[in-house]
Amino acid sequence: MVEHLYGIPEHADTLKLKNTDGSDPYRLYNLDVFQYELHNPMALYGSVPVLISHCTERTMGIFWLNAAETWVDISSNTAGKDSSEDAQTDVRWISESGIIDVFIMLGPKPTDVFTQYASLTGTQSFPPLSALAYHQCRWNYNDQEDVKAVDQGFDEHDIPYDFIWLDIEHTDGKRYFTWDSSKFPQPKDMLQGLMDKRRKLVAIVDPHIKVDSGYKIHNEIRSKNFYVKNKDGGDYEGWCWPGNSGYPDFTNPEMRAWWSSMFAYDQYEGSMENQYIWNDMNEPSVFNGPEVTMHKDALHGVWEHRDVHNLYGLYVQKATADGLIQRSGGVERPFVLTRAFFAGSQRYGAVWTGDNAAEWGHLKISIPMCLSLGLVGISFCGADVGGFFKHPSAELLVRWYQAGAYQPFFRAHAHLDTPRREPWLFGPEITALIREAVRQRYALLPNWYQLFYNAHRTGQPVMRPLWVEYPEDVTTFSIEDEYLLGKDLLVHPVTDEGSMGVTAYLPGKGEVWYDVHTFQKHDGSQSLFIPVTMSSIPVFQRGGSIICRKERIRRSSSCMENDPYTLYVALSLQGFADGELYIDDFHTFNFEKEKQFIHRHLSFSANTLSSRNLAPDSHFSTGSWIEKIVIIGGSRPSSVTLRNADGIESAVEFDFDSVTTVLTLRKPGVNAGADWTVLLR
Ligand code: GLC
Repeated sequence: MVEHLYGIPEHADTLKLKNTDGSDPYRLYNLDVFQYELHNPMALYGSVPVLISHCTERTMGIFWLNAAETWVDISSNTAGKDSSEDAQTDVRWISESGIIDVFIMLGPKPTDVFTQYASLTGTQSFPPLSALAYHQCRWNYNDQEDVKAVDQGFDEHDIPYDFIWLDIEHTDGKRYFTWDSSKFPQPKDMLQGLMDKRRKLVAIVDPHIKVDSGYKIHNEIRSKNFYVKNKDGGDYEGWCWPGNSGYPDFTNPEMRAWWSSMFAYDQYEGSMENQYIWNDMNEPSVFNGPEVTMHKDALHGVWEHRDVHNLYGLYVQKATADGLIQRSGGVERPFVLTRAFFAGSQRYGAVWTGDNAAEWGHLKISIPMCLSLGLVGISFCGADVGGFFKHPSAELLVRWYQAGAYQPFFRAHAHLDTPRREPWLFGPEITALIREAVRQRYALLPNWYQLFYNAHRTGQPVMRPLWVEYPEDVTTFSIEDEYLLGKDLLVHPVTDEGSMGVTAYLPGKGEVWYDVHTFQKHDGSQSLFIPVTMSSIPVFQRGGSIICRKERIRRSSSCMENDPYTLYVALSLQGFADGELYIDDFHTFNFEKEKQFIHRHLSFSANTLSSRNLAPDSHFSTGSWIEKIVIIGGSRPSSVTLRNADGIESAVEFDFDSVTTVLTLRKPGVNAGADWTVLLR
């Protein structure tokens, strides 16, 4: 019987859902929560009413499609029963109003449930590569000089980054789509300066609009009658950052089309192609509303707010993402971060876990929170690195960078009242540790990109609980301090203060795992104590896999686009391995519209490594080549030969380290898009 339940984010709680007998049920009601508590079923910023059940025989899902306030009550009679035969788990769904559609996803495998759910709500949008790199944010970077100084700080300290972020203070009095004219007098110069370094900016655009007859956005929304109404039919008004504010009715498609058009370069003055958007406060947050949100009797056309509450944030992000697509004439992939979300939000960009705190418990909970989102389709998730409220110790900050470098959305952020914490402000040793964590992220970007392409194509999560890949291994069912990226990398970040080591569970009987830093080999199906120092990020590659990296780290991911690849081939005990390499222009929709991409299957068997085209009708050419191949877990060959697409053979230089069993092939020099074979003899 089913005892293991997962999903229904967003809660700051364990990955495996708890029995809620004797406590409040899990609540789904998008709210702007001040200083949220951990291990609590209380509602947070987003809601996905999807629950996944799992046992060794079968995985299933239920999608309760209703956007009103919802409670999920879980009770089971498994306690004290030694046989799971007569165990039963009951789940009660309670929604206040609205329409209820219920979908059952029958599995039977976890991958089937993900595919079935994706067929209902869509898959993860495929972000531009740079969005998967490192983001530097704080509330606030004060002015153009500050932005320039922080940007230079990254160069001076040799730390890569792709995006710098501007919070609400960059605007003219919290009037979104505007700039404070004394602090940001020349936004285009600032954006151009970033563009010259192949970097980008994100500016915040919140959905509460200052009621001010001198503000174009407000005047247009009012004159078009696009505001949400109060129960008496007047424009609904509430208090938020700008003071008295109106709330555009994002459930209205005409309103959304108008909002999207506001991102055109001639509408949003001072914006440029390398500026992207952050939608915050879209639960919506209403400071003087009930529970800091909108009154339930406010009106969206004929619908009461109570019926559509949990959908508001999704529509804000959708309208914004559509705007970014339209401003480029449909060419460029957008990047929009949202705080509130609902089932289907994965199609519009990234999600973060809101206002966490600089505490070890918050670092730890970021893992189950992101895993729960991934299970219900939202792969592009992260937590504020360093913690939003409070000031992290140097140790916590380092550990958070190390964990964040291996989570999908990787952004440092901090509250206005906290001391500055750019990576170089804690002394050279700490700077070096943070630099190393960020560099590990950049080296692995080809793997992240391929995983997101896969999530986009198939609906499979990027960050996975172990049980998704090892569904019959009960030991994995409640693990939430480690996880898999795809199926091949196992990450166990250090999340304890003063840690001397972590105990990692390596799954898979008959499998082996290689420490990615030392190449040490470990058997699967065991718990292993891994001693750690301050620089350790325990990561293991599954024997049987091939991971692609780029190892020439530059100042941004865009600077690395044409760089060569290094392939890490980790052999299974039987001497096999396989993996994929995906390449396109890294930012447009041409991969979809024009089939302009390269998708290769890399496989090793019988001492032969080959690269084969997985998408014969695609066409794209890359300047990138394969500069190194590292084969782990084999033996010393007497010769290594490369055979190119024309059948021409040449000898490849190599070294073999008999202690680590690492065979390094130097400069095979083949184009990353070509057919080739390497023969070990
Ligand atoms: C909210 C956001 C936070 C942001 C702040 C100011 O608290 O969650 O990330 O910095 O508003 O815009």
